[in-house]
Amino acid sequence: MMSMNILTEAKEKIQIAAEKIKSGDLVAFPTETVYGLGADATNDSAVAKIFSTKGRPSFNPLIIHVSSIDMAKRYVQWSKLADILANRFWPGALTLVLPRIPAGNVSLLASAGGDTLGVRMPAHPLALAIIESAGVPLAAPSANKSGRVSPTTAQHVRDEFGDTIYILDGGACGVGVESTVLDISDGQPLLLRPGGITAEAVESVLNQKTSQQLSPQQVLRSPGMLESHYAPSRPVRLNAVQALPGEALLAFGGEVPAGAARTINLSETGNTTQAAARLFAAMRELDTGDYSAIAVMPIPEQGLGVAINDRLRRAAAGR
Ligand code: TXA
Ligand code: MG
Repeated sequence: MMSMNILTEAKEKIQIAAEKIKSGDLVAFPTETVYGLGADATNDSAVAKIFSTKGRPSFNPLIIHVSSIDMAKRYVQWSKLADILANRFWPGALTLVLPRIPAGNVSLLASAGGDTLGVRMPAHPLALAIIESAGVPLAAPSANKSGRVSPTTAQHVRDEFGDTIYILDGGACGVGVESTVLDISDGQPLLLRPGGITAEAVESVLNQKTSQQLSPQQVLRSPGMLESHYAPSRPVRLNAVQALPGEALLAFGGEVPAGAARTINLSETGNTTQAAARLFAAMRELDTGDYSAIAVMPIPEQGLGVAINDRLRRAAAGR
């Protein structure tokens, strides 16, 4: 009943939000856990805007919000375990990490270049209505600036971003802590983040223990532990000012040296947000060719350049 009223009253606003999402803009929206900062998960540059708006120093993988189990199946490899958990806890505060389907067209940036996706169907009528109306999954982290606490009211979101982001007001969030993140991508349930649904509830449904959870201290000591890092299979050479014969070149900006076996320019105009949007797809593309190494031109430590360089350093060190 109540959700019917919410939907009728917000009909026009849902339409506006969905249009913004479809045209690549960000929208803040309520879920039952916390407010999310949403973008079309299939649009690289829209997803890049999430990172630049939040001011994140690195690319964490984002949760992909769907409006049904069937919708989730279009983007991740579904499993028996996923079925049991989603049937019991969706819509709700449980994010399932599963292998991404290559043809699923979710932005590689949304999964920080990794092979898995965290998917969740939120239990909030407005969240579900935007997803349905836009017809695309929403990539959405909590709608706060990096390093600040997650917002549970529309006013919190306004405090973070002012009037720069369209906010769909759904009142205070019922759960107020983020979703539980459970990695079931290899069939063994591993609790990555405690949240709105307890480990006990998950375990009683599965009739099995979830793997030992890392303490926050352990997580801090092993940065990147929670992230699926993408490292190319060939050497990555950073701060390249020229391309050696046989190398592929990941270029940036208007002045690109000649001589590379293959060149992809992340941004001809030197725009770091555009570069972020293209980064993971470009690395994958260059990694498929027969090149001795991937040479990467210097990228300024400005805007999303900080996060791009963080990822590139990890890629270079990861082999
Ligand atoms: O309740 C929530 O989860 C809220 C609402 C908006 O849905 N979202 C949220 O997102 O808290 P965020 O970005 O602040 O936190 C997402 C967490 C991060 O710890 C991230 O590392 C993890 O989920 N995560 C997402 N996708 C993942 C993946 N493919 N593999 C491992 N961890 C993943
Ligand atoms: Mg957060």
